[in-house]
Amino acid sequence: MALRLRRHDVIELEIVDLANTGKSVGRHDGMVVMADRGVPGDEIECEITEVKHNFAFGRLTRLLKPSLLRIAPRCRHFDICGGCSWQYLPYSEQLKYKARFVSDGLERIGKLEVLEIDAPLGSAEEFYYRNKMEYSFCDEIETATAGMHVRGRYDAVFELEECYLQSAASVTALAKVRSLARELGIPFYNFKSCEGELRFLVVREGKLTGDFMLNLVTFNREFAGCEKLLASIIEQVEGLTSLFHTINGRKAHVAIGDEVILVHGKPHLAERIGHLAFQITPFSFFQTNSRQTQVLYDVIRDHAHVQPEQHLLDLFCGCGTIGLYLAKDVASVLGIEINPEAIEMAKQNASLNRIANCEFMSGDVRRLLVELHENERQFDTIVTDPPRSGLEQTACRRICRLRAKRIVAVSCNPATLARDLAQLVEAGYRVERVSPVDMFPQTAHVETVASLVLDE
Ligand SMILES: C[S@@+](CC[C@H](N)C(=O)[O-])C[C@H]1O[C@@H](n2cnc3c(N)ncnc32)[C@H](O)[C@@H]1O
Repeated sequence: MALRLRRHDVIELEIVDLANTGKSVGRHDGMVVMADRGVPGDEIECEITEVKHNFAFGRLTRLLKPSLLRIAPRCRHFDICGGCSWQYLPYSEQLKYKARFVSDGLERIGKLEVLEIDAPLGSAEEFYYRNKMEYSFCDEIETATAGMHVRGRYDAVFELEECYLQSAASVTALAKVRSLARELGIPFYNFKSCEGELRFLVVREGKLTGDFMLNLVTFNREFAGCEKLLASIIEQVEGLTSLFHTINGRKAHVAIGDEVILVHGKPHLAERIGHLAFQITPFSFFQTNSRQTQVLYDVIRDHAHVQPEQHLLDLFCGCGTIGLYLAKDVASVLGIEINPEAIEMAKQNASLNRIANCEFMSGDVRRLLVELHENERQFDTIVTDPPRSGLEQTACRRICRLRAKRIVAVSCNPATLARDLAQLVEAGYRVERVSPVDMFPQTAHVETVASLVLDE
Protein backbone atom coordinates (compact mmCIF):
# COMPACT_ATOMS: atom_id res chain seq x y z
CA MET A 1 0.00 0.00 0.00
CA ALA A 2 1.24 3.49 -0.88
CA LEU A 3 2.44 5.57 2.06
CA ARG A 4 0.45 8.77 2.62
CA LEU A 5 2.42 11.95 1.98
CA ARG A 6 3.30 14.11 4.95
CA ARG A 7 4.36 17.74 5.27
CA HIS A 8 8.12 18.23 4.64
CA ASP A 9 8.41 14.94 2.73
CA VAL A 10 10.76 15.37 -0.22
CA ILE A 11 9.68 13.49 -3.33
CA GLU A 12 10.55 13.24 -7.00
CA LEU A 13 7.71 14.31 -9.24
CA GLU A 14 7.07 14.31 -12.96
CA ILE A 15 4.98 17.31 -13.98
CA VAL A 16 2.20 16.28 -16.33
CA ASP A 17 -0.19 19.23 -16.44
CA LEU A 18 -1.02 22.77 -15.32
CA ALA A 19 -3.99 23.72 -13.13
CA ASN A 20 -6.09 26.84 -13.66
CA THR A 21 -4.62 28.26 -10.46
CA GLY A 22 -1.28 28.45 -12.35
CA LYS A 23 0.26 25.59 -10.37
CA SER A 24 1.85 22.60 -12.05
CA VAL A 25 0.44 19.14 -11.47
CA GLY A 26 2.09 15.75 -10.91
CA ARG A 27 1.07 12.44 -9.36
CA HIS A 28 2.83 10.59 -6.56
CA ASP A 29 1.56 7.09 -5.74
CA GLY A 30 -1.81 8.05 -7.16
CA MET A 31 -2.03 11.31 -5.21
CA VAL A 32 -2.21 14.64 -7.06
CA VAL A 33 0.57 17.04 -6.04
CA MET A 34 0.46 20.69 -7.07
CA ALA A 35 3.72 22.58 -7.10
CA ASP A 36 4.63 26.13 -8.06
CA ARG A 37 6.90 26.76 -11.02
CA GLY A 38 6.86 23.31 -12.67
CA VAL A 39 6.45 22.90 -16.43
CA PRO A 40 4.76 19.86 -18.03
CA GLY A 41 7.59 17.44 -18.87
CA ASP A 42 9.79 18.59 -15.96
CA GLU A 43 11.14 16.12 -13.44
CA ILE A 44 11.47 17.94 -10.15
CA GLU A 45 12.38 17.43 -6.54
CA CYS A 46 9.52 18.71 -4.46
CA GLU A 47 9.01 19.36 -0.76
CA ILE A 48 5.46 18.77 0.41
CA THR A 49 4.12 21.92 2.09
CA GLU A 50 0.51 21.00 2.79
CA VAL A 51 -1.51 17.78 2.63
CA LYS A 52 -5.26 17.84 1.97
CA HIS A 53 -7.67 14.90 1.89
CA ASN A 54 -6.86 13.70 -1.64
CA PHE A 55 -4.15 16.04 -2.90
CA ALA A 56 -1.09 17.88 -1.66
CA PHE A 57 0.77 21.12 -2.29
CA GLY A 58 4.50 21.19 -2.79
CA ARG A 59 7.46 23.45 -3.44
CA LEU A 60 9.91 22.91 -6.25
CA THR A 61 13.27 22.51 -4.49
CA ARG A 62 15.39 21.23 -7.40
CA LEU A 63 14.90 20.88 -11.11
CA LEU A 64 16.11 17.35 -11.86
CA LYS A 65 15.39 17.31 -15.59
CA PRO A 66 13.90 20.31 -17.36
CA SER A 67 11.03 19.94 -19.81
CA LEU A 68 11.76 20.70 -23.45
CA LEU A 69 9.05 23.37 -23.14
CA ARG A 70 10.82 25.24 -20.35
CA ILE A 71 12.26 28.70 -21.09
CA ALA A 72 14.23 30.99 -18.78
CA PRO A 73 12.05 33.54 -16.98
CA ARG A 74 12.99 37.14 -17.74
CA CYS A 75 12.42 38.55 -14.30
CA ARG A 76 14.91 38.21 -11.47
CA HIS A 77 12.03 38.18 -8.95
CA PHE A 78 10.16 35.36 -10.70
CA ASP A 79 10.85 32.76 -8.00
CA ILE A 80 9.32 34.77 -5.18
CA CYS A 81 6.89 37.20 -6.79
CA GLY A 82 3.15 36.66 -6.48
CA GLY A 83 2.54 38.77 -9.59
CA CYS A 84 2.98 36.33 -12.45
CA SER A 85 3.45 32.58 -12.54
CA TRP A 86 4.09 31.42 -16.11
CA GLN A 87 7.19 33.21 -17.38
CA TYR A 88 8.95 29.84 -17.85
CA LEU A 89 6.41 28.81 -20.52
CA PRO A 90 6.40 30.13 -24.12
CA TYR A 91 3.38 32.34 -24.78
CA SER A 92 1.96 29.96 -27.44
CA GLU A 93 1.91 27.19 -24.78
CA GLN A 94 0.28 29.50 -22.23
CA LEU A 95 -2.55 30.09 -24.70
CA LYS A 96 -3.08 26.34 -25.22
CA TYR A 97 -3.52 25.78 -21.50
CA LYS A 98 -5.83 28.77 -21.13
CA ALA A 99 -8.07 27.44 -23.92
CA ARG A 100 -8.15 24.10 -22.12
CA PHE A 101 -9.17 25.71 -18.81
CA VAL A 102 -12.17 27.20 -20.60
CA SER A 103 -13.26 23.96 -22.30
CA ASP A 104 -12.60 21.89 -19.14
CA GLY A 105 -14.72 24.29 -17.06
CA LEU A 106 -17.61 24.07 -19.52
CA GLU A 107 -17.46 20.29 -19.61
CA ARG A 108 -16.71 19.45 -15.99
CA ILE A 109 -18.44 22.22 -14.03
CA GLY A 110 -21.11 23.30 -16.49
CA LYS A 111 -21.68 19.80 -17.94
CA LEU A 112 -22.21 21.64 -21.21
CA GLU A 113 -21.70 20.40 -24.70
CA VAL A 114 -20.50 23.45 -26.53
CA LEU A 115 -20.61 23.48 -30.30
CA GLU A 116 -17.99 26.05 -31.00
CA ILE A 117 -14.98 27.19 -28.95
CA ASP A 118 -12.81 29.64 -30.84
CA ALA A 119 -9.02 29.55 -30.73
CA PRO A 120 -7.85 31.93 -27.95
CA LEU A 121 -6.97 35.45 -29.05
CA GLY A 122 -3.53 36.25 -27.67
CA SER A 123 -2.39 39.66 -26.51
CA ALA A 124 -0.18 41.55 -28.99
CA GLU A 125 1.95 42.55 -25.99
CA GLU A 126 3.23 39.57 -24.00
CA PHE A 127 5.04 41.88 -21.58
CA TYR A 128 4.64 45.49 -20.35
CA TYR A 129 0.87 45.35 -20.92
CA ARG A 130 -0.51 46.26 -17.49
CA ASN A 131 -1.89 49.78 -16.98
CA LYS A 132 -2.30 49.43 -13.20
CA MET A 133 -0.14 48.16 -10.36
CA GLU A 134 -0.74 48.19 -6.63
CA TYR A 135 2.50 48.20 -4.64
CA SER A 136 2.57 47.55 -0.90
CA PHE A 137 4.78 49.06 1.77
CA CYS A 138 5.78 46.70 4.53
CA ASP A 139 7.77 47.13 7.69
CA GLU A 140 9.10 43.78 8.75
CA ILE A 141 11.22 43.29 11.86
CA GLU A 142 14.50 44.32 10.30
CA THR A 143 13.68 45.73 6.93
CA ALA A 144 11.18 48.21 5.61
CA THR A 145 10.45 47.57 1.98
CA ALA A 146 8.03 48.39 -0.82
CA GLY A 147 7.12 46.31 -3.83
CA MET A 148 5.00 43.24 -4.53
CA HIS A 149 3.79 40.56 -2.16
CA VAL A 150 5.84 37.41 -1.82
CA ARG A 151 3.88 34.59 -3.51
CA GLY A 152 1.25 33.20 -1.16
CA ARG A 153 2.08 35.68 1.66
CA TYR A 154 -0.30 38.50 2.59
CA ASP A 155 2.17 39.70 5.24
CA ALA A 156 5.47 39.72 3.30
CA VAL A 157 6.62 42.09 0.58
CA PHE A 158 9.89 42.11 -1.35
CA GLU A 159 11.89 45.03 -2.69
CA LEU A 160 10.78 45.17 -6.34
CA GLU A 161 13.47 46.35 -8.72
CA GLU A 162 12.12 45.19 -12.06
CA CYS A 163 8.83 43.99 -13.49
CA TYR A 164 7.99 42.93 -17.04
CA LEU A 165 4.24 43.21 -16.74
CA GLN A 166 4.27 47.00 -16.65
CA SER A 167 6.21 49.99 -17.89
CA ALA A 168 9.66 50.96 -16.65
CA ALA A 169 8.12 54.31 -15.60
CA SER A 170 5.93 52.53 -13.05
CA VAL A 171 8.88 50.69 -11.46
CA THR A 172 10.94 53.89 -11.47
CA ALA A 173 8.12 55.77 -9.72
CA LEU A 174 7.98 53.10 -7.01
CA ALA A 175 11.76 53.25 -6.51
CA LYS A 176 11.61 57.05 -6.28
CA VAL A 177 8.78 57.14 -3.71
CA ARG A 178 10.44 54.35 -1.67
CA SER A 179 13.77 56.15 -1.48
CA LEU A 180 12.16 59.55 -0.72
CA ALA A 181 10.17 57.94 2.11
CA ARG A 182 13.34 56.35 3.49
CA GLU A 183 15.25 59.64 3.35
CA LEU A 184 12.41 61.34 5.24
CA GLY A 185 12.25 58.51 7.80
CA ILE A 186 8.53 57.87 7.25
CA PRO A 187 7.50 54.53 8.77
CA PHE A 188 6.19 51.82 6.44
CA TYR A 189 3.07 49.96 7.56
CA ASN A 190 3.50 46.87 9.70
CA PHE A 191 0.89 44.18 8.97
CA LYS A 192 1.19 42.60 12.41
CA SER A 193 1.22 45.63 14.72
CA CYS A 194 -0.96 47.67 12.32
CA GLU A 195 1.37 50.65 12.88
CA GLY A 196 3.20 52.80 10.36
CA GLU A 197 2.09 55.38 7.79
CA LEU A 198 2.75 54.27 4.22
CA ARG A 199 0.44 51.46 3.03
CA PHE A 200 0.15 51.39 -0.81
CA LEU A 201 1.32 53.15 -3.91
CA VAL A 202 -1.10 52.60 -6.78
CA VAL A 203 0.15 53.43 -10.28
CA ARG A 204 -2.26 53.84 -13.19
CA GLU A 205 -1.19 54.63 -16.73
CA GLY A 206 -2.96 55.67 -19.90
CA LYS A 207 -1.11 53.30 -22.24
CA LEU A 208 -2.47 55.10 -25.30
CA THR A 209 -2.39 58.65 -23.89
CA GLY A 210 0.76 58.79 -21.75
CA ASP A 211 -1.18 59.88 -18.62
CA PHE A 212 0.42 58.78 -15.36
CA MET A 213 -1.48 58.69 -12.05
CA LEU A 214 -0.09 57.93 -8.58
CA ASN A 215 -2.23 57.32 -5.52
CA LEU A 216 -0.42 57.15 -2.19
CA VAL A 217 -2.47 55.37 0.49
CA THR A 218 -1.49 56.16 4.06
CA PHE A 219 -2.78 55.35 7.53
CA ASN A 220 -3.11 58.95 8.75
CA ARG A 221 -3.93 62.16 6.93
CA GLU A 222 -1.05 64.02 8.52
CA PHE A 223 2.27 62.68 9.75
CA ALA A 224 5.85 63.90 9.96
CA GLY A 225 7.31 64.20 6.46
CA CYS A 226 3.96 63.87 4.64
CA GLU A 227 3.94 67.29 2.95
CA LYS A 228 7.59 67.02 1.98
CA LEU A 229 7.04 63.55 0.52
CA LEU A 230 4.08 64.67 -1.60
CA ALA A 231 5.93 67.79 -2.80
CA SER A 232 9.02 65.74 -3.70
CA ILE A 233 6.90 63.23 -5.65
CA ILE A 234 5.41 66.08 -7.70
CA GLU A 235 8.86 67.50 -8.31
CA GLN A 236 10.73 64.29 -9.04
CA VAL A 237 8.39 61.75 -10.67
CA GLU A 238 8.66 62.33 -14.40
CA GLY A 239 5.52 62.61 -16.48
CA LEU A 240 3.18 62.69 -13.46
CA THR A 241 -0.30 63.88 -14.54
CA SER A 242 -2.19 63.20 -11.26
CA LEU A 243 -1.24 62.61 -7.64
CA PHE A 244 -3.85 61.48 -5.10
CA HIS A 245 -3.46 60.98 -1.36
CA THR A 246 -5.90 58.45 0.10
CA ILE A 247 -6.32 57.89 3.81
CA ASN A 248 -7.14 54.41 5.07
CA GLY A 249 -7.04 54.40 8.88
CA ARG A 250 -8.79 51.06 9.15
CA LYS A 251 -7.34 47.64 9.86
CA ALA A 252 -8.53 46.21 6.52
CA HIS A 253 -5.42 46.25 4.34
CA VAL A 254 -6.95 47.46 1.08
CA ALA A 255 -5.85 50.25 -1.24
CA ILE A 256 -9.05 52.23 -0.78
CA GLY A 257 -9.89 54.78 1.89
CA ASP A 258 -12.33 57.11 3.59
CA GLU A 259 -10.80 60.27 2.23
CA VAL A 260 -9.29 60.87 -1.20
CA ILE A 261 -7.41 64.10 -1.84
CA LEU A 262 -6.30 65.29 -5.27
CA VAL A 263 -2.87 66.72 -4.48
CA HIS A 264 -1.69 67.53 -7.98
CA GLY A 265 -2.82 67.51 -11.61
CA LYS A 266 -5.98 66.17 -13.21
CA PRO A 267 -8.81 64.46 -11.27
CA HIS A 268 -8.79 61.55 -13.72
CA LEU A 269 -6.64 59.46 -16.03
CA ALA A 270 -7.27 59.62 -19.77
CA GLU A 271 -7.21 56.40 -21.80
CA ARG A 272 -8.41 55.36 -25.25
CA ILE A 273 -10.11 52.22 -26.51
CA GLY A 274 -10.49 52.22 -30.26
CA HIS A 275 -12.57 55.22 -31.36
CA LEU A 276 -13.38 56.31 -27.80
CA ALA A 277 -11.73 58.43 -25.12
CA PHE A 278 -12.24 57.53 -21.47
CA GLN A 279 -11.64 59.30 -18.20
CA ILE A 280 -10.96 57.08 -15.20
CA THR A 281 -11.00 58.12 -11.54
CA PRO A 282 -8.58 56.47 -9.07
CA PHE A 283 -11.00 53.82 -7.81
CA SER A 284 -12.97 52.99 -10.96
CA PHE A 285 -12.54 49.58 -12.55
CA PHE A 286 -10.84 49.63 -15.94
CA GLN A 287 -9.51 46.64 -17.88
CA THR A 288 -5.80 46.30 -17.03
CA ASN A 289 -4.56 45.50 -20.55
CA SER A 290 -5.60 48.60 -22.51
CA ARG A 291 -4.63 47.49 -26.02
CA GLN A 292 -6.15 44.03 -25.68
CA THR A 293 -9.37 45.62 -24.38
CA GLN A 294 -10.18 46.74 -27.90
CA VAL A 295 -9.77 43.14 -29.09
CA LEU A 296 -12.05 41.95 -26.25
CA TYR A 297 -14.71 44.56 -27.00
CA ASP A 298 -14.64 43.72 -30.73
CA VAL A 299 -15.27 40.08 -29.81
CA ILE A 300 -18.15 41.16 -27.55
CA ARG A 301 -19.60 43.21 -30.43
CA ASP A 302 -19.36 40.15 -32.68
CA HIS A 303 -21.12 37.96 -30.13
CA ALA A 304 -23.81 40.61 -29.57
CA HIS A 305 -24.78 40.60 -33.30
CA VAL A 306 -25.36 44.36 -33.04
CA GLN A 307 -28.22 45.89 -35.05
CA PRO A 308 -29.38 49.53 -35.30
CA GLU A 309 -32.75 48.71 -33.68
CA GLN A 310 -31.23 46.72 -30.79
CA HIS A 311 -31.72 47.68 -27.10
CA LEU A 312 -28.78 46.55 -25.01
CA LEU A 313 -28.41 46.08 -21.25
CA ASP A 314 -24.79 46.29 -20.00
CA LEU A 315 -24.63 44.72 -16.51
CA PHE A 316 -21.59 45.36 -14.24
CA CYS A 317 -20.65 48.17 -16.61
CA GLY A 318 -17.78 49.80 -14.64
CA CYS A 319 -17.28 53.24 -16.21
CA GLY A 320 -19.51 52.30 -19.11
CA THR A 321 -16.83 51.08 -21.47
CA ILE A 322 -18.56 48.10 -23.18
CA GLY A 323 -21.91 49.88 -23.67
CA LEU A 324 -20.23 53.04 -24.94
CA TYR A 325 -18.07 51.01 -27.32
CA LEU A 326 -21.18 49.36 -28.82
CA ALA A 327 -23.43 52.45 -28.63
CA LYS A 328 -22.94 53.59 -32.22
CA ASP A 329 -24.15 50.22 -33.53
CA VAL A 330 -27.35 49.91 -31.46
CA ALA A 331 -30.51 51.91 -30.64
CA SER A 332 -29.93 52.26 -26.90
CA VAL A 333 -27.78 51.10 -23.98
CA LEU A 334 -28.60 50.91 -20.27
CA GLY A 335 -25.53 50.35 -18.08
CA ILE A 336 -25.74 49.20 -14.44
CA GLU A 337 -22.88 49.32 -11.94
CA ILE A 338 -22.64 49.30 -8.13
CA ASN A 339 -19.88 51.89 -7.84
CA PRO A 340 -21.48 55.38 -8.04
CA GLU A 341 -18.13 56.99 -8.88
CA ALA A 342 -17.78 54.70 -11.93
CA ILE A 343 -21.37 55.55 -13.01
CA GLU A 344 -20.56 59.24 -12.75
CA MET A 345 -17.55 58.59 -14.99
CA ALA A 346 -19.71 56.56 -17.41
CA LYS A 347 -22.03 59.58 -17.81
CA GLN A 348 -19.09 61.92 -18.29
CA ASN A 349 -17.50 59.47 -20.76
CA ALA A 350 -20.75 59.41 -22.74
CA SER A 351 -20.76 63.21 -23.08
CA LEU A 352 -17.01 63.33 -23.71
CA ASN A 353 -17.61 61.08 -26.75
CA ARG A 354 -20.89 62.84 -27.70
CA ILE A 355 -22.89 59.64 -27.20
CA ALA A 356 -26.56 60.35 -26.50
CA ASN A 357 -28.20 56.89 -26.55
CA CYS A 358 -26.74 55.57 -23.27
CA GLU A 359 -28.36 55.68 -19.84
CA PHE A 360 -26.56 54.61 -16.65
CA MET A 361 -27.88 53.52 -13.26
CA SER A 362 -25.92 53.06 -10.06
CA GLY A 363 -26.86 50.15 -7.79
CA ASP A 364 -26.71 46.43 -7.15
CA VAL A 365 -27.46 44.49 -10.32
CA ARG A 366 -29.64 42.03 -8.40
CA ARG A 367 -31.88 44.79 -7.02
CA LEU A 368 -32.08 46.78 -10.25
CA LEU A 369 -32.95 43.65 -12.27
CA VAL A 370 -36.13 43.42 -10.15
CA GLU A 371 -36.98 47.04 -11.02
CA LEU A 372 -36.38 46.47 -14.71
CA HIS A 373 -38.68 43.44 -14.63
CA GLU A 374 -41.41 45.29 -12.71
CA ASN A 375 -41.20 48.22 -15.13
CA GLU A 376 -41.46 45.78 -18.05
CA ARG A 377 -38.23 47.04 -19.61
CA GLN A 378 -37.32 45.06 -22.73
CA PHE A 379 -33.83 44.31 -24.02
CA ASP A 380 -32.76 42.38 -27.10
CA THR A 381 -29.29 41.66 -25.75
CA ILE A 382 -27.84 41.56 -22.25
CA VAL A 383 -24.09 41.79 -21.73
CA THR A 384 -22.85 40.63 -18.32
CA ASP A 385 -19.30 41.21 -17.05
CA PRO A 386 -19.29 40.38 -13.30
CA PRO A 387 -16.31 40.13 -10.93
CA ARG A 388 -14.53 36.74 -10.54
CA SER A 389 -17.29 35.40 -8.26
CA GLY A 390 -19.62 35.46 -11.29
CA LEU A 391 -23.33 36.16 -11.57
CA GLU A 392 -24.50 33.61 -9.02
CA GLN A 393 -28.00 32.21 -8.76
CA THR A 394 -30.14 35.26 -8.00
CA ALA A 395 -28.72 37.44 -10.76
CA CYS A 396 -28.94 34.55 -13.26
CA ARG A 397 -32.58 33.95 -12.37
CA ARG A 398 -33.47 37.63 -12.64
CA ILE A 399 -31.60 38.04 -15.94
CA CYS A 400 -33.57 35.13 -17.39
CA ARG A 401 -36.87 36.75 -16.39
CA LEU A 402 -36.17 39.60 -18.82
CA ARG A 403 -36.28 37.06 -21.71
CA ALA A 404 -33.69 38.85 -23.85
CA LYS A 405 -33.09 37.01 -27.13
CA ARG A 406 -29.36 37.00 -26.58
CA ILE A 407 -27.01 37.07 -23.59
CA VAL A 408 -23.30 37.78 -23.95
CA ALA A 409 -21.52 36.56 -20.82
CA VAL A 410 -18.04 38.00 -20.28
CA SER A 411 -15.95 36.52 -17.49
CA CYS A 412 -12.42 36.36 -16.11
CA ASN A 413 -13.11 33.09 -14.29
CA PRO A 414 -13.82 29.94 -16.37
CA ALA A 415 -15.18 28.07 -13.31
CA THR A 416 -17.86 30.58 -12.30
CA LEU A 417 -18.65 31.23 -15.97
CA ALA A 418 -19.34 27.51 -16.51
CA ARG A 419 -21.56 27.41 -13.41
CA ASP A 420 -23.53 30.49 -14.56
CA LEU A 421 -23.89 29.26 -18.15
CA ALA A 422 -25.32 25.98 -16.86
CA GLN A 423 -27.99 27.94 -14.99
CA LEU A 424 -28.82 30.05 -18.04
CA VAL A 425 -29.08 26.90 -20.15
CA GLU A 426 -31.44 25.36 -17.62
CA ALA A 427 -33.65 28.45 -17.99
CA GLY A 428 -33.99 27.97 -21.75
CA TYR A 429 -30.85 29.46 -23.30
CA ARG A 430 -28.47 27.66 -25.66
CA VAL A 431 -24.74 28.35 -25.72
CA GLU A 432 -23.95 29.42 -29.26
CA ARG A 433 -20.29 30.34 -29.23
CA VAL A 434 -17.38 30.67 -26.80
CA SER A 435 -14.28 32.82 -27.38
CA PRO A 436 -11.32 32.89 -24.97
CA VAL A 437 -9.43 36.19 -25.06
CA ASP A 438 -6.15 36.56 -23.23
CA MET A 439 -5.89 39.78 -21.26
CA PHE A 440 -3.22 38.52 -18.84
CA PRO A 441 -0.05 37.01 -20.42
CA GLN A 442 2.43 35.33 -18.02
CA THR A 443 -0.43 34.40 -15.68
CA ALA A 444 -2.96 31.56 -15.68
CA HIS A 445 -5.89 33.99 -15.97
CA VAL A 446 -8.07 34.04 -19.05
CA GLU A 447 -11.05 36.13 -20.12
CA THR A 448 -13.94 34.43 -21.95
CA VAL A 449 -16.83 35.73 -24.01
CA ALA A 450 -19.75 33.32 -24.39
CA SER A 451 -22.99 34.04 -26.23
CA LEU A 452 -26.30 32.36 -25.58
CA VAL A 453 -29.56 32.56 -27.50
CA LEU A 454 -33.04 32.02 -26.17
CA ASP A 455 -34.44 28.77 -27.52
CA GLU A 456 -38.13 29.41 -28.15
C1 LIG B 1 -15.13 42.86 -14.25
S1 LIG B 1 -15.65 44.46 -13.88
C2 LIG B 1 -16.35 44.91 -15.44
C3 LIG B 1 -16.37 46.38 -15.78
C4 LIG B 1 -16.67 46.75 -17.22
N1 LIG B 1 -17.65 45.90 -17.84
C5 LIG B 1 -15.41 46.83 -18.06
O1 LIG B 1 -15.27 46.11 -19.06
O2 LIG B 1 -14.55 47.66 -17.73
C6 LIG B 1 -16.95 44.16 -12.83
C7 LIG B 1 -17.70 45.40 -12.33
O3 LIG B 1 -18.83 44.96 -11.58
C8 LIG B 1 -19.07 45.89 -10.52
N2 LIG B 1 -19.90 45.18 -9.54
C9 LIG B 1 -19.52 44.26 -8.62
N3 LIG B 1 -20.58 43.80 -7.96
C10 LIG B 1 -21.68 44.42 -8.46
C11 LIG B 1 -23.09 44.35 -8.19
N4 LIG B 1 -23.55 43.52 -7.24
N5 LIG B 1 -23.92 45.13 -8.89
C12 LIG B 1 -23.43 45.95 -9.86
N6 LIG B 1 -22.12 46.06 -10.16
C13 LIG B 1 -21.25 45.31 -9.48
C14 LIG B 1 -17.66 46.26 -10.07
O4 LIG B 1 -17.68 47.49 -9.39
C15 LIG B 1 -16.90 46.32 -11.42
O5 LIG B 1 -16.92 47.63 -11.94
